[in-house]
Amino acid sequence: MEKVLQIVLKKIRPKASDEKSLTELAKRAVELANEVSKKYHAKAILAGSLTRGTWLPGKREFDVFVLFPPDLPEDKLEDYGLAVGKEVVKRLKGKFFVEYAQHPYTSGIVQGISIDIVPCYEVESAEKIKSAVDRTPFHVRYIEKNLPLKLADDVRLLKQLLSANRIYGADAKTQGFSGYVSELLVIKYGGFSNVIKATSAWQPGTIIDLENSYKKEDYQQLIRSFKGNPLILIDPTDKNRNTASALSVENFLKFKKLAKSFIAKPNANYFFESKTKPLTGRELERILAGRKTELIVVKFKPPKVVPDILWPQLRRFTERLSNILEETKYEFKVLRSDCYTDEKDVAIALLEMEISKLPPIQKRIGPSVFDIKDASRFLEKYNQPLAGPFVEDDKWVVEIRRRFVTAHEKVSDSLKNKEDILKAKGVPNYIAAQLAKRFEIVSDGEKLVKLASKNKEFGIFLRNYFKKDKPAL
Ligand code: UTP
Ligand code: MN
Ligand code: MN
Repeated sequence: MEKVLQIVLKKIRPKASDEKSLTELAKRAVELANEVSKKYHAKAILAGSLTRGTWLPGKREFDVFVLFPPDLPEDKLEDYGLAVGKEVVKRLKGKFFVEYAQHPYTSGIVQGISIDIVPCYEVESAEKIKSAVDRTPFHVRYIEKNLPLKLADDVRLLKQLLSANRIYGADAKTQGFSGYVSELLVIKYGGFSNVIKATSAWQPGTIIDLENSYKKEDYQQLIRSFKGNPLILIDPTDKNRNTASALSVENFLKFKKLAKSFIAKPNANYFFESKTKPLTGRELERILAGRKTELIVVKFKPPKVVPDILWPQLRRFTERLSNILEETKYEFKVLRSDCYTDEKDVAIALLEMEISKLPPIQKRIGPSVFDIKDASRFLEKYNQPLAGPFVEDDKWVVEIRRRFVTAHEKVSDSLKNKEDILKAKGVPNYIAAQLAKRFEIVSDGEKLVKLASKNKEFGIFLRNYFKKDKPAL
C-alpha cells in the first residue's frame, strides 16, 4: 500500500509554483479584505484547506471569511459582506459572482484561481452561532491545533480518493464527505492508511467523538438523535452537531466497500476517476429485454435555483411520482426510481416499472354486507359496473372499467395540471412551476434509446443506474 500511496502522492502534491501563486494571492486577498472591512468593524481570516495545506491541485481555490460583530442585523451582514467581497475581487482585477448558501456570498475568479469570500458573525463559542458558516473560524482553529503538518498529505490522499469516487463534498447532490470531515478522520485515526483500515470495518451508526464529549452510555441516545445518519462524527467544536450529517447511507457503504477492496489489492487507479461510457442504445435494448421492465422518463427543464435546492426537490418529486403510481386504486408497481439533472438544460425523473400495464377491468372490493349504510353508498357509487355487484365472503364486489391502463397515462394525467394543483399533489414548488410550463414523458424503448444516444450525460446516468454495486456489509 505504501508504494501505491507514494505514486499517487507524486501526482496530487501541488507544484511549488502553484503553491506559491495560491498563497501569494491569498495573502493579498486577506490583506485587502481586512482593509476594506475595517469601516464595518469586521476582520478577515483565511479559512478552508489552504490554511492547512490540504487542498488538491485540481481545485485551485481558497476561502476568505469576513467576521462581523454579532449584533449586526442579518440584512446588513449580507449587504456589507457582498460589498467587501465585490471590492476585494475588483481590486484584484478579477470577475465576481454572487453565490448562495445560507447567506449570499461572493465568489471570484482571479488569474484562474477561485476565491470564496464568505461573511459570518464572530461569536464567542460555536454553540452560540447564528448561522452555519459562523462555525468555520472555530473549525480553522481546531484543525490548526490538531492536524499535524506532516498529516497534510494524508488528508490529500483521502480527499483525492473520495473525489475520484464522487463522494467528496457535503452538498445536496453529492451527499458525501466534506473537507473538514476528511481532516477530522485523519486526525482521529492518525493517517490515511489507518482511516482506510478503520473504514473497512465501519457499521452504520458508527460514532466518532474526538473530544470525548459523550460517555459510552450516551451512545444509544446519540444514535436516536441522529437517526438515519450512518456516520455520527461529533463536531469537536460543537457537540450538538454531526459534521457528517450530509453523508447518505449509500455513500457510507460505498466508501466502506472501496476501503475493503483497496486494502485487499492496493492500486493507484482507485484515486483517479475512470471515465464511464454512456450506455449505448443496443445495451439499453438488451437490458430492458432481459429485465422485462418498462422505463418511464419524465423530462423537463430544471428550475433556475441553486443545486442545493434543485437536487432535494428533484429527489422528492421522483419519490412523489412513485407514490402516486403505487396508490392502491391504481395498482401499478415501481421497481426502482432515480433522477438526474445537468443543473442547466435537462432534469429527469426515471421510474422503472415492475407493473406498468394492467387489464381494462378492475375489481373494487366494498364494505361488508352487514354494514348497511356504507354498502348502499358503495352500490350507489358503482351503479353501472361491468360485472356485479356480487358478494365475496361477506363483502360487496364490483368489476369496473379501469381509469388508467398504463403507468404512462397515469403519470401524464397527474402532471398535466396547473401549478397550484401540482403543488397540492405534493410536487415540490420550483418543479411544479416548471412542469406547468412544459414536460415530456418518454417511455417508448426506441425514443429512450435515441435520448440516451443524443444526451451523453443521460447515457452515463443510465449505465450507473443499471450497475448497482453490491454494498459491502
Ligand atoms: P470548502 O468547501 O472550500 O472546503 O469550504 P475546504 O475545507 O476548503 O476544502 P477544499 O479543498 O476547498 O475542497 C471552506 C469552509 O467554508 C465553509 C465550510 O464549512 C468550510 O469550513 N463553507 C463553505 C460553508 O460553511 N458554507 C458554504 O457554502 C461553503
Ligand atoms: Mn476551499
Ligand atoms: Mn470554498
